[in-house]
Amino acid sequence: MKIRIINGPNLNLISRRDSHIYGNETLSDIEAWLHSKVRSKDSVKWFQSNHEGQIIDEIHACIDCYDGIIINPGAFTHYSYAIRDAIESANIPTVEVHLSDIHNREDFRKKSVIKDVCIEQIYGHGKIGYLNAAEILFAHENKKDNV
Ligand code: DQA
Repeated sequence: MKIRIINGPNLNLISRRDSHIYGNETLSDIEAWLHSKVRSKDSVKWFQSNHEGQIIDEIHACIDCYDGIIINPGAFTHYSYAIRDAIESANIPTVEVHLSDIHNREDFRKKSVIKDVCIEQIYGHGKIGYLNAAEILFAHENKKDNV
């Protein structure tokens, strides 16, 4: 199975952000950790951008190339209808991930405009959320293969 992991703005700086919320690891540390956890037959490719248009282009580039998407859109989660529409248009199973518990922070973080085009929303489990999301996509793929 081929999975694209798309990370949005400021996630390149997580080790410099509030460590009580985001921990001390860099996004590259989390990427390396996830690679050590997934089955070797599966391919998991990472992407990070601070630019909405690049994230949309990357979602489009997944069409016919990837079986699943894991997306942490950062603050775009809360207001980017364009990223929401890109996920809907690509029509690839997508899981939304947040390192922090967005439902127990500022009110503006509680709302996700992409939630309803994703098969699941995962939040508050730190890096383990990415692994949980990969497992959800593997299970989703297996279910599809068994019908
Ligand atoms: C985040 C939560 C967002 O509200 C925030 O803007 C981020 C990171 C998370 O992973 O917890 O940049 O998506």
